[in-house]
Amino acid sequence: MRGRHGGRIIHRMDDMPSRFPVSLPALRAAARAAGFIRSCEERTGSLLAVLAAACPGGRILELGTGVGEGTAWLLSGMDRASHLVTVELDEVVQRVAREELGSDPRVTFVAEDGGAWLRNYGGEPFDLVFADTWPGKFSHLERALQLVALGGTYLIDDLTPQPDWPEDHEAAVKRLLADLEAREDFHSVRMAWASGLLMAVRSARA
Ligand SMILES: C[S@@+](CC[C@H](N)C(=O)[O-])C[C@H]1O[C@@H](n2cnc3c(N)ncnc32)[C@H](O)[C@@H]1O
Repeated sequence: MRGRHGGRIIHRMDDMPSRFPVSLPALRAAARAAGFIRSCEERTGSLLAVLAAACPGGRILELGTGVGEGTAWLLSGMDRASHLVTVELDEVVQRVAREELGSDPRVTFVAEDGGAWLRNYGGEPFDLVFADTWPGKFSHLERALQLVALGGTYLIDDLTPQPDWPEDHEAAVKRLLADLEAREDFHSVRMAWASGLLMAVRSARA
């Protein structure tokens, strides 16, 4: 479409979600009270719910629970037969999530270093891995990817450069993106959306 002077008029689609997990307001209030500012964005949350809904009876892993906002979005998309394991180093932060979401039998909370958990885990692979902390993303990447089932999804966010990033972080993100995109066993897509995402799906190629 063109405007009065021939220039293109760009209409941006409103891409904010309109449906939210019921527990979100309480989790946000608790996050504010605790000064926790690292929960996922709403748009990322809505994608988590969609991806969780795409794997009925699915096995889902979240690395970095925080206060549980991502957990709540994942649970909101999961069916009754799906199961989520969420791992967090900071017990105090995770307690918020446990208190709000712990009565849901579909979620298991683990309070442990994500790297140690990844090293020691000996169970079945996952249909969806949301790697939202250092281990599984900037360390232990190979192990986290090993745990993605065939056709399963690996998702990371917070990839758009920010002014407050430490000096070497942008280079680490670039390396991570390049490493993921060079893999023969995953198809990846970058999304310059929300905080900057990459979604990778394990394919049968390799
Ligand atoms: C970005 S926040 C997670 C946000 C959450 N996934 C959400 O979507 O709302 C990252 C979390 O990782 C936790 N964390 C930091 N180092 C960790 C480690 N080594 N193992 C597990 N969790 C860790 C932090 O305490 C923080 O709560």
